[in-house]
Formats: sequence, structure tokens, C-alpha cells
Amino acid sequence: MNRRDFLLTTGAAVLAPYSMSASAQQVLTAQPVKAQILPAGDPMTQMLGFNGSTPGPTLRTKQGELFDIRFDNQIDQGSAVHWHGLRIENAMDGVPGMTQPMVEPGGAFTYRFRAPDAGTYWYHSHNRSSEQVARGLYGPLIVEETTPPDVDHDLIVMIDDWRLSEDGVLFGDFENLHDQAHSGRLGNFARALVEPETPVKRGDRVRLRLINVATDRIFPVEIAGIDGKIVALDGMPLNAPQDVAELVLAPAQRVDILADIAAEDRISFVFPTRGGPYELGEIPVAGENTTRSPTPIPALPANRTATPDLSDPVRLTLTMEGGAMSQRMRQGLMSEGIWAFNGQSGMTDTPLHRFERGQTAVIRMVNDTRFPHGIHLHGHHFHELDPDGALGALRDTSLINPGQSQDIACVFDNPGKWLMHCHMLGHQAAGMKTWVEVT
Ligand code: C2O
Ligand code: CU
Repeated sequence: MNRRDFLLTTGAAVLAPYSMSASAQQVLTAQPVKAQILPAGDPMTQMLGFNGSTPGPTLRTKQGELFDIRFDNQIDQGSAVHWHGLRIENAMDGVPGMTQPMVEPGGAFTYRFRAPDAGTYWYHSHNRSSEQVARGLYGPLIVEETTPPDVDHDLIVMIDDWRLSEDGVLFGDFENLHDQAHSGRLGNFARALVEPETPVKRGDRVRLRLINVATDRIFPVEIAGIDGKIVALDGMPLNAPQDVAELVLAPAQRVDILADIAAEDRISFVFPTRGGPYELGEIPVAGENTTRSPTPIPALPANRTATPDLSDPVRLTLTMEGGAMSQRMRQGLMSEGIWAFNGQSGMTDTPLHRFERGQTAVIRMVNDTRFPHGIHLHGHHFHELDPDGALGALRDTSLINPGQSQDIACVFDNPGKWLMHCHMLGHQAAGMKTWVEVT
């Protein structure tokens, strides 16, 4: 990326979504909105949003409590809402044509579920998502622990990019084949949106919930001014907190950090680019917390997940193929779909595999392309396996670099039909998707 391509960010006014808490039925309305994406004073942008804002409202629910939400579709395309990372029942997963009917313009659909896992999640449109998410149809979804960690501030940091003209118009052309065959649709303006927008004190302990909500861009992020540890990935607590070394978030990935504020003036979020550091956003620091005494960063309480039985797993390989400069291109197969898994582009009538409920699978995900991919499995979390085969962190989206492979182990214990796709949404639109069934 060329730094020149990026408009400069200067203390932009962050959009102000509000919080809704789950008790009675809530309504989430998709509709056109005008949003201040560019810095305050610059023109606003015509987007899509939920309940009047993009990102949509922060949805909060307590672990295990009933979440009851009616989705009203007031945009001029069919849509549906996917609750990314939640291991909920299949009928609530929000994939039109697979788990529910399309919610047509003017229509509605009621989602009712209990989120089994505490942590940081998000929701987004799951129809024409490379367009609808780029246009703003997403928001954070927080599932609170029964006993949350002791912090002074719980802050959501959504990282996004947009492709905008200088006068703030969002470029269309969401199905651009050149984008799809390369890294997807990359924006020319990026920001970290912090919610709620509130100053913190030096010495405060904070929880930062980073979410990469961009359609296609991988964000490496450097955070200056904190002293903390990573405590969860993709919502799932780590067994032991880890040092914050290099943070890299593929689209849809989340990272939770517990940290003490070490800076006197500001926490900054910086995206290191080839053209130099690009500032995504900041949290102002004012004053000093003199009452909190320093304690080690605790691990978060584990969610209940089944442990993979690695003694005799189902073994599968999922090979990513296609894109620019690929064999698939040289063979002239791109007209059948730019991207493929195991030679197959797009959805098929039969699933990649049918699992019996509770079966463990080890899937070798092989990236035989020139581009990185972030592969997401619906309805489950899986362990990334370390090179020595040991169970690593639980994730719902795994980033695999070109020429690399990653083994994952998953207990397929959630019945239904589940998508598995690249979360670079332009790649997904261009065929990098499949599905599995758990019976
Ligand atoms: Cu977050 Cu199938 O998606
Ligand atoms: Cu991809």
C-alpha cells in the first residue's frame, strides 16, 4: 500500500453508536444512514447501518441468557444477520438459503438464542456480504462473563477501512474482478473506532476488544502506551495470558487485551505500512488513577468446549487454490470461479464432509495461492495445532499465509449445515467457500 493513497486522519470524530442490553425483544433495523467516516468537517458518507449508525449498536448479552432480536430489513436488497463466532443453533446462524429464508426488503426475521460463550464477537450481514459489510452492515456483539474481570474501562476497538473519494463518496464496484483475484477490496482510509469514546487515566486497567471488521484487509496493529497481555482470541480465553508482541488481525478475527495504562497523554493504534506508520486512532489519557494497585493480568475463565480426541480423527485436507498468478489461472479455470477449495469453486449440493455429531476432525488447510486467506468455520471453534501437533489456541478464523499450511482440530458437535469460507469477503464472493454438515 502506498501511504499517499491514504487520506490523513486527524482526530476524527468517532461515530456514536449506543448500547442496547438484552432483556426484552430488541429491534435491529438495517437502513441507509449518513455517517461521518472522514474526519469531522469533511463530507459525510452515504452508507448502510443498523438503527441509524454504522457500525451498528453494541449488542450486549450475558453468557447463557436469552437473546431475542427482530431484524427488520429496510434496505433495497435481501439480507440476513450472522452472529460471527457464536456457537448457537443452526437455524439462528443467519445464512440465507442455507439456515433461513432470505429477509427480503421490507421483511423481518426474529433471532432467538442463548450465547454459550462469553467473549468478543460481532454481527454482520451475510448476504452479498462483500458489498453489504463494505457499505456498513456490521456491529459488535459482546457476551459478558458471569464474573467479568476487574477493569476500569471495557473498550471495543473496531478496525475498518473504506474506499472513499476525497468528497467522502463510497466507491461502488463491489464485485471488481481485479480486486477479487488479488487481496480483495482494500480501502484507502482506515480507522480504529473506539467505543465508548472516553478518556482513561494513567494507571487504569482496561480491557481492549479489538475486532477487524474490514471486508478484506489484514491489519497488523501496534499499540503504544499500554502494559498488558492478550487474554483471548476470537472470543475464547487463552489458558495463560500472552505477551502482546506482533498483533495481526485477519478480517473477522478478534483479540482481547487486558492492560494497564502506562502513557500520560494517549494510547495510539498504529498500522505499520510499507510507506510508514499509519495512525488508526487513539484513546486520550488524562489524569492518574491513584487507587488501583498493580496486580498481575489474570486469565479469563474458560468457556466450555469439547476437547478434540486426537487418537483417531477424521482427516481432511482443504487446499486453497486460484487467484492471480495461479495454476488455476494458467489452466483457464477462472471463468468457473476465481478461487477454489480442492478444485471446487463455490457451493456444491453435497457438503465437503458429513460428520457424526461429536466427531473430531483434523483438517490440514493448505494455502496453494499467492495471497493470504483467513478461513472461517461457522458454528464451531477449532484449535489451531502447533507444528508439533499440540492443541493451540481456539479460534473461529485462521489466517494462513501464501505457501503455508495450518492444521486445525475441531470437535463437530453442533448439528446442522455450516459454512466454511474465506473471510476476505471478495474471495468468498469469488468462490472460496464450502460447507459441512453435522448430523
Ligand atoms: Cu463472519 Cu460466514 O461469516
Ligand atoms: Cu481468501
